[in-house]
Amino acid sequence: MNITPEYLYQKRRKFLKLGIGAFVSSTLIGSKLSALNFIKDKNLDNLKISDEELATNYVNFYEFSTDKRKAVSLAQNFNTQNWKVEISGEIEKPITLNMEDILKFPLEERIYRFRCVETWSMVVPWVGFELRHLIEMVKPTNKAKFVKFTTLLDKNQFPDQAALFPTIDYPYVEGLRIDEAMHPLTLLAVGMYKKPLKPQNGAPIRLVVPWKYGFKSIKSIVKIEFVKDQPRTTWQNYAPSEYGFYANVNPNVSHPRWSQANERALGDFFTKPTLMFNGYEKEVAKLYEGMDLRINF
Ligand code: MTE
Repeated sequence: MNITPEYLYQKRRKFLKLGIGAFVSSTLIGSKLSALNFIKDKNLDNLKISDEELATNYVNFYEFSTDKRKAVSLAQNFNTQNWKVEISGEIEKPITLNMEDILKFPLEERIYRFRCVETWSMVVPWVGFELRHLIEMVKPTNKAKFVKFTTLLDKNQFPDQAALFPTIDYPYVEGLRIDEAMHPLTLLAVGMYKKPLKPQNGAPIRLVVPWKYGFKSIKSIVKIEFVKDQPRTTWQNYAPSEYGFYANVNPNVSHPRWSQANERALGDFFTKPTLMFNGYEKEVAKLYEGMDLRINF
């Protein structure tokens, strides 16, 4: 993904040419989200896309199970009908959106590297829209410094939420600084591999922040709040010395249990070096100028 002003400019031109109104066709509206229409990513960086079967069957979704395969099978009957996302907090226009509203945002394919803190990685063709479009719509006040995201809380649907001793605190919460949330790489994804998201991958809507470890990419979002203070996230609560708020991919800062210097792409035998900011240094390094990334991990 090569986000240059020129690239964005070309994309927008193409988008306008196709006609934004006509593009949001009725096939993608409605509860089934049966088909997605989107602008294709040209894959200018020539990333090798991970095998779809591997990428959609090796998941972390603790609400279902900590076992990656089991989570997939337990997710199959996940009910996302009448899904709503509440947008609130320090904004001028609080609103609750249903998926029909959400699918009116300009959808694009984005082929991104994805790096889990457990040291596996993949390259996924997401389908989604830039979070900043939604942010611009709700008009944050000048008090909005962070954005907090929350996953559905539903003990009837999520076995681990119903457990006597849940693995982590629920609901799952994540957060971004407002400038991170406004960055053009930050995506709200509704699909992958040209299709609507599968339940195990965070249907019907999830966050994707490609320069951060995968745990920031919160799934099945029901709430987006604009807040003054840095929100406390699920993984910080779980182990503050292991999981920071920023969680930028950084091969020079090890996790206590995993060196982050290398990664293994799904399906590969050999490991390869991990790139600073997961390969998006040129695009995002300026967000962290002057910050000590060893402390702000
Ligand atoms: N979101 C929720 N709600 N629950 C989770 O357990 N796991 C996170 C993230 N988002 C998780 C979540 C972690 S640790 C990773 S690596 C990614 O989702 C995995 O995304 P994938 O399963 O689609 O590959």
